[in-house]
Amino acid sequence: MQILSPSKQHIALAAELLGRGELVAIPTETVYGLAGNAFDERALTRIFAAKERPTFDPLILHVAPAIGFGFVLDRLAALRLVDRSSLSMAAEKRIEALLEEFWPGPLTVVLPKHRDVPDLATSGLPTVAVRMPSHPVAQKIIAESGVPLAAPSANRFGRISPTRPEHVVAELEGRVEYVIDGGPCEVGLESTVVALNAEEGFSLLRPGGVAVSDIEKVLGQRLYIDAPRYSKSGEVAQLAPGMLQSHYAPRKKLTRLPGAALSMSEADWRSVSSPGDSAIGVLLYSGDESAAANALQALLRRRVIARSLSQKGDVTEAARLLFAKLRALDNSPAELLYCEPCTDESGLGYAIADRLRRASS
Ligand code: TXA
Ligand code: MG
Repeated sequence: MQILSPSKQHIALAAELLGRGELVAIPTETVYGLAGNAFDERALTRIFAAKERPTFDPLILHVAPAIGFGFVLDRLAALRLVDRSSLSMAAEKRIEALLEEFWPGPLTVVLPKHRDVPDLATSGLPTVAVRMPSHPVAQKIIAESGVPLAAPSANRFGRISPTRPEHVVAELEGRVEYVIDGGPCEVGLESTVVALNAEEGFSLLRPGGVAVSDIEKVLGQRLYIDAPRYSKSGEVAQLAPGMLQSHYAPRKKLTRLPGAALSMSEADWRSVSSPGDSAIGVLLYSGDESAAANALQALLRRRVIARSLSQKGDVTEAARLLFAKLRALDNSPAELLYCEPCTDESGLGYAIADRLRRASS
């Protein structure tokens, strides 16, 4: 696989390949996506195959901003993505308010689907997920392709999402020819997914790059949150198709710590980790990596590799670096991985906590 700079020529090449039903990995502000023409069944089939993704997990369709459309919904209908016929005026107003505020950006909205959208893109559901990314390179590639692009995260199914072009190479080498380099992703977590529900309110299907509280402010009403329910066996119930309990997972076993790594006694550690002298990896929410590694090494008398999401505990930085730090630990000599729980679940913290739960389940 080749990493190509986002030059005019490379963007034209990407658009041409996409037009022919081929796949290209593209940058977005959330994570890198594996893009294909949303209206081309061959391209959609290739996406599922390259990712080894089950076809019951529907795709998000990406559109570019356009001048000359007052209402984004008019445009989504003109692109043959959304069927407005069943939408009430009140529902349309609410949808427009959301799109006006958060598009382009890390919000995906699930709406009634236009009959021309292939069933493969929506896993046969009567709804379609749409998003307008803010990354300028993504926008240029979509605009030049001239079609909406289906783009799931450019990782193999269930694995850690890529936030740098090298991650895409590590995930999809030999399966896709090109990834366009848009730099490290600014948001670092996938988009927040909300769906219009039968009561004409919105339900949260996946926490992500836009905080739930910000969405509620714009709607002037609460999101229906089908909060992760834990069954007796401790399993998280599924929120949306494809939102599986085990996801975003490193290859190595990842265990969530009961509290901050440095507040745990040797006995606390013994209760969560198996003894041995192999190196362990610890994902800290905040603080200094080498200071923590030294302290833990002295306590546990084994090699400790520490990675910190944000030295200062800044939630935006933590979200941005989460997948890259997790991937770094997965590629390190550490044999077992541990992560601190994200204790502040306000704002983006909720999405970080969600990803850590799934990565460690
Ligand atoms: O930030 C993002 O959204 C990234 C970038 C590349 O744009 N894309 C992404 O796609 O995360 P993916 O395929 O990894 O996640 C798609 C998820 C599905 O797993 C499902 O949970 C939800 O979006 N989804 C898609 N279509 C849906 C539908 N019709 N109804 C309910 N949920 C849907
Ligand atoms: Mg994904």
